Amino acid sequence: MVKVAVLGHGTVGSGVVELFTKNKESIASRAGQEITVKRILDLREFPELPYAGKFTKNFDDILNDPEISIVAEVMGGLHPAFEYTKALLEAGKSVVTSNKELVAARGAALLAVAKAHNVNYFFEASVGGGIPVIRPMHQCLAANEITEVAGILNGTTNYILTRMFHDSTPFDEALREAQRLGYAERNPAADVEGADACRKICILSSLAFGSHVYPETVHTEGITHLTLPDVEYAANWDCVIKLIGRAKKLPGGKILAAVYPALLKHHSQLASIDDVFNGILIRGNATGDVVFYGRGAGKLPTASAVVADMIDISKAGCTSKSLTWCDSDGKNVGDYKEEPLRFMVWGTLLDTRALATLQDVMGSVTFLSRPGQPEGETAFVTPEMSEYALSEKLEVLGNLFKVRSVIRALDY
Ligand code: HSE
Repeated sequence: MVKVAVLGHGTVGSGVVELFTKNKESIASRAGQEITVKRILDLREFPELPYAGKFTKNFDDILNDPEISIVAEVMGGLHPAFEYTKALLEAGKSVVTSNKELVAARGAALLAVAKAHNVNYFFEASVGGGIPVIRPMHQCLAANEITEVAGILNGTTNYILTRMFHDSTPFDEALREAQRLGYAERNPAADVEGADACRKICILSSLAFGSHVYPETVHTEGITHLTLPDVEYAANWDCVIKLIGRAKKLPGGKILAAVYPALLKHHSQLASIDDVFNGILIRGNATGDVVFYGRGAGKLPTASAVVADMIDISKAGCTSKSLTWCDSDGKNVGDYKEEPLRFMVWGTLLDTRALATLQDVMGSVTFLSRPGQPEGETAFVTPEMSEYALSEKLEVLGNLFKVRSVIRALDY
């Protein structure tokens, strides 16, 4: 029998305990032995629960228990999650986690500690909730050079954007609904301002390209500035707007990594991914594009990935050699502004005579319209150019054109 512990009895932690009870027999048969939750760490009391006797407020009860060999860290945040994880790994216990903030910030260090103590640090649940993506990437796609990873990595913002696009639900109402459904982070600013998606693309790109990509090196924009005209102009160009986290290998060896809302044509494999669902596209030089799709947040989908990692460890024993990457000095990320892209731009044109100047400066643009478009409001899609070139051209237009919004267009 394998005895495990759970750090944190929030949304994910309670889901982990529930799955071990609900699917006890199938988990035992897949693991080859029974797995039982011996201890749960939480500062709160849960006297009403049938397993109330398993709770402790003292981390040492878990750290110093020689019977506990695997621990799920589902408390979130950097501290004390980092110190607890490090201590557990050093004590010879494997740790699994859904804590993307910790893996993105300290993954290289914790993987090194796990390796030094011949135990595992697994984090399938940290990206894509219940979608298997970490393991397929380092095992099933191991024969590929991965050239690019891109995805809808945050369920809360995808839920909000879907509600805004399909039922014109106001932003705040859609966010409240996502919180009620247990999708949002404790501080939902991490969702709507892009930090959560940033952490996830850091994890995916570190694994795909082998050196740690730190969140502070990744250009990150959220969805709070998006407006109804953005949505309407996007629709006029047969596009949706999705918050995309992306990373790709640049020719010189650096990594392009960024998070921002982007236009995707309706035929894109990621465009129809709605509500809380996540979609992750991995481009391999042997497979071409592989897309993973499923519930990216929520109690049982995330708990499913946590428990699967625990089952895997109880079967495997020693350290996984493929789930690892090296540390970096942060200089492994290149300049996202150099990438040639098309941009949807809208704003106010001083007068209609300025239209010819706009076309002269911008080149061959595609003009867009929306219902009730105010006079002077002008929207267009540029030809491909770098962000530096776009800024220069907008500067040349100066007061002739007052920019209200610029959204990048991606081609997945
Ligand atoms: N807040 C996250 C999301 C939870 O909405 O995707 C899953 O990581």
